Amino acid sequence: MYKILTNISEIATPTGTKAKGGIKQGEIKTIKDGEIVIEGEKIVFVGTHKERLERIGNIPSAEFIDLKGCTAIPGFVDPHTHLPWYGSREDEFALRLKGISYMEIASKGGGILRTVNDTRSATLEELKAKVIDRLDEMLEWGTTTCEAKSGYGLSLEAEIKQLQALKLADEEHPIEIIPTLLAAHEVPKEYKNNRRKYIDIVVDEITPEVVRQKLAKFADVFCENGVFSEEEAEFILSRSKEHGLVPRIHADEFVNSGGARVAAKLKAASADHLTAAGEEELILLKESGVVATLLPGTSFFLRSKYAQARKFVNLGIPVAIATDCNPGSSYTESMPMIITLAVLYSGLTIEEALTASTLNAAHTLRIADRIGTLEEGKQADITVLRYPSLKHLGYHYGINPVAMTIKKGTVVFSR
Ligand code: NIG
Ligand code: FE
Repeated sequence: MYKILTNISEIATPTGTKAKGGIKQGEIKTIKDGEIVIEGEKIVFVGTHKERLERIGNIPSAEFIDLKGCTAIPGFVDPHTHLPWYGSREDEFALRLKGISYMEIASKGGGILRTVNDTRSATLEELKAKVIDRLDEMLEWGTTTCEAKSGYGLSLEAEIKQLQALKLADEEHPIEIIPTLLAAHEVPKEYKNNRRKYIDIVVDEITPEVVRQKLAKFADVFCENGVFSEEEAEFILSRSKEHGLVPRIHADEFVNSGGARVAAKLKAASADHLTAAGEEELILLKESGVVATLLPGTSFFLRSKYAQARKFVNLGIPVAIATDCNPGSSYTESMPMIITLAVLYSGLTIEEALTASTLNAAHTLRIADRIGTLEEGKQADITVLRYPSLKHLGYHYGINPVAMTIKKGTVVFSR
C-alpha cells in the first residue's frame, strides 16, 4: 500500500544515521514543492514531483495527501522524559511562585519523593492510563518516539510496575517508547540513613531483574550534590553496563557535580541537563563522543540558568533537546515549545534545533539507523507543520504548529 504526500511546500530534514555535531548540526536538506512516497511503514522516495515521475512513475492505487502550505519534518524524538508518574504537584508549583526553591521543597520531603508515594500507591492499570494520556498529548505536538524513565518507584516492585506500564502503553499506542531504568533517581525514605544499602539493591536486585524481564534498554542516575555522587553514579552505571544496560545520566543540573565526567568515562549514550558543566567537562564529552541532551524546558520552568548550546556546538559536541516531561521541574509534552526555548535562550539555530530534536535525539536512543530523518529506507515517521517553511518552527509559539503526525506510515493525528 502506497501513500504519496504531495505538494509539500517544504521538506526539511537532517540526513544520515549518526548524530551531527559542529557545523554539520545545522546542515538541513530542504526540498521545495516536494513529495514523499511511503510504502507500508517505510519511506521509499523523497524528492520533487518530477523526480518521482522519472524514478517511480505513476502509482494509480496510491492514496494522495495534499500538503500545500505545509512543511514536512521527521517526527520529533523526545529523548528524556519521566512519563510513568502518578499524581501532580501543583501546590509545589504555587510554593515556587512564592520564591521557595525546587531543591528546598525536595529537602522537606516534597519533590521526587512526593511523586514516589503517589506512584507506589497507583495500580499498574492506573499508571498505564496516565502514560497513554501523556502520549496522546505528545502525538498532537508531533512526537513519534520517546524515551521514558522509571524513577518514581525506588523499590524492586514499584520500578518494575513503572516499566511494565511503559511496556503496556508502548504496545497500545502509536508512539514508540524506549525505556530507561532510573532506580537511582533519589534515595527512598526507608534507606535515608543507609544509602549504601539502597545502592546495593539497585545494582544487585533491581537491575538484574529488569534486565531479565527485558524492561529497559538504558540505565540512568540523577548525579547531583545531595542526590547521587560522582563515585556512586559511576559505580551504579558501570554495574548496569555489565548487565547490558547502556548508560545515560542526569549530569550537572544545578552544580558541577561530576556527572559529565562519569558520562565521558563510561562513554554514555547521553549526558543530560549540563547547565552547570564546566569547560573541562565539555572537552571530555567531546573527546568521548557523548551527545549532550539539553533540557531548556527545565530551566524555563525552574527559572534557572540555560545550558549554553552555542558553546557545545562550537566545540563539536552533538546536541539533542528534550522535554524532561515530569511533574516537578518541567511539566510539558511539547517539543515545539522546547524548540522555541532552545533557540531563544540556549542559542541554537532553528536548523540545529531540528537536528537536535530528531536525528541527534534518535542517536542517543541508538535507533538513528531507522529513525530521525526523512530519507529513503527510514521508517515513515513524519510530522507535518501547518506553515510553508521550517523557519516558522519556534517562531509562532504557545500554539500547536502541527497539522498532522504520521507514525510508521499511518496518519495518527490530523486536524
Ligand atoms: O530531570 N532532576 C531530576 N529529575 C527530574 C525532576 C523530577 C521531579 O521533580 O519529579 C529532572 O528534572
Ligand atoms: Fe530528568
